[in-house]
Amino acid sequence: MNTSLEPIEHASRDEIAALQLTRLRHTLRHAYDNVAHTREKFAAAGMHPDDLRDLADLARFPFTTKDDLRRTYPFGMFAVAMDDIVRIHASSGTTGKPTVVGYTQQDIDTWAGLMARSIRAAGGSRTDIIHITHGYGLFTGGLGVHYGAERLGCAVVPISGGQTERQVQLILDFKPTMIVGTPSYILNIVDELVRQGIDPVSTSLVRGMFGAEPWGGRMRLELESRLGIAAMDLYGLSELMGPGVACECLESRDGPTIWEDHFYPEIVDPETGALLPEGEPGELVFTSLTKQALPIIRYRTRDLTRLLPPTARSFRRFEKISGRCDDMLIIRGVNVFPSQIEELILKTPRLSPHYLLELSRRGHLDDLTIRVEIKPEAASEADKQAAAHELQHHIKSYIGINTLIEIVAPGHIERSVGKARRVIDKRPQ
Ligand code: DLL
Repeated sequence: MNTSLEPIEHASRDEIAALQLTRLRHTLRHAYDNVAHTREKFAAAGMHPDDLRDLADLARFPFTTKDDLRRTYPFGMFAVAMDDIVRIHASSGTTGKPTVVGYTQQDIDTWAGLMARSIRAAGGSRTDIIHITHGYGLFTGGLGVHYGAERLGCAVVPISGGQTERQVQLILDFKPTMIVGTPSYILNIVDELVRQGIDPVSTSLVRGMFGAEPWGGRMRLELESRLGIAAMDLYGLSELMGPGVACECLESRDGPTIWEDHFYPEIVDPETGALLPEGEPGELVFTSLTKQALPIIRYRTRDLTRLLPPTARSFRRFEKISGRCDDMLIIRGVNVFPSQIEELILKTPRLSPHYLLELSRRGHLDDLTIRVEIKPEAASEADKQAAAHELQHHIKSYIGINTLIEIVAPGHIERSVGKARRVIDKRPQ
C-alpha cells in the first residue's frame, strides 16, 4: 500500500459509500434550503431531500443541466451569500450566455486539495517543476491546476497558453519535469521544438497531465512517444469545480480515477435520462458532495463513457471520454464522433494529428470533408495521395461512411491555444 495516500484513497467501499451518503444528504438539504430554483425543481418532481434513504434514491431526483445555470444567470444557483464568495469563473459562452460558477474559500481549499491529489496520482511531488499551459482567467484550467501544484509544493511556471516559441525557451531553460495542457496545444509545442531543431524526447519533461478536451489511446501513444513522457488524463468541468474531478494514476494509467469522496457519479441513457447499470456506456452525471457555493445535483455533463471498477485507488474510474453527446455528427444516418476520426488519423503513419472536419450539404445529403496535415517528412505528391487513400479506406471500413479527404501542407491548419476546434458546420441551418 502506498502510505503517502490520504486514508480515504484506500478505504473500503463500505466506508466510501457511508461517507457519500452523509455528504449527499447534506448537499441535497443545502441546495434545497438555499437555492429557490432547486427547491422548485424538487417540488415539480415531487421530491424532498428526506426522500434520500440510500445512494440509489438519488436517481429519483431531477437533473441539473447547463440550461438551469443559464436561466439563473449569473448567480441564481449560488447557495451562499455573495459576501462568502471569493472567486468566480465562467465558461466562454460561445452559444448563448456563459455559465457562471462561484466558490467559497472552503471550496477553493477543497479544489486545491483535490488538484494536489491529482498531481500526486500522476506521479508528481514537491520536487517537480510544473509548466502550466492552460489558460489563466475565467477558464478554470490555469488557476485550478496552479493552486493544486502550489499546495503540493511543486515549483510552478504559470506560463498559460500561447507564445509557443517562448514556451519552448522556458522548457529548455527552466527544465520542468511536468507539463500540463490540452493535448492539442502540447502537440503544437512539440512541433515548435522540432522546428527549432530540438529533439522533443531530449527535454527534461518526464510526465504530463492532459485534459479539457477528449483524447484517445492513440493520442496518448503519440504524446508519450514524441515527448518521451508518461501521459495522464486529467478530467474536470467548471460546473462541478474545474480540473481535478478525476485523474489517472501513474501506476495504472487505465482511465481517470474519480475523487468519489467529493463527486458522486452515475451513467444515464443520453436520450431518456434513465439510470444505466454499472459498466454500461452512456452519459456521465455528477453530483457534488462537498461544495458550498454551488452544490450541483445530478449534473448532465454530456460526456460519454462508462464506469469502471477501482484499481490503483479504492475509487471507481471511468473509461477515457469518447466524446460529448452534443459533438456527435450524423453523416447520412451514421453517428460519428470526431474522436473516432482522430484515432484513424493517428493510425495513418504519414498524417499528423492536426485536422479539421467540415460539414457541408449537397442537395439533401451531408458531406464530411476531412482536412488533415501531412507530416513534413512525407510531403511528396505520391505520399499525399497514398495517405488520403489510406485514411478514406480506414474510415469506410471502421466507421462506414464515405468522406472527402483533403491533405494539406504542414502548418496549414490553424493551431489552438486551449481547447481545439475540430468541426466547422457549413450546412444551411
Ligand atoms: O475543461 C476543466 C479542465 C481544465 C479539465 C483543465 C482538465 C484540465 P470546462 O471548460 O467547463 O472545464 O469544460 C468541461 O471539457 O465536460 C468535457 O467535455 C471536456 N473535458 C475536460 N477534461 C476532459 C478530459 C474544463 N480529460 C468539458 N477528457 C467536459 C475529455 C474532457 N474531455
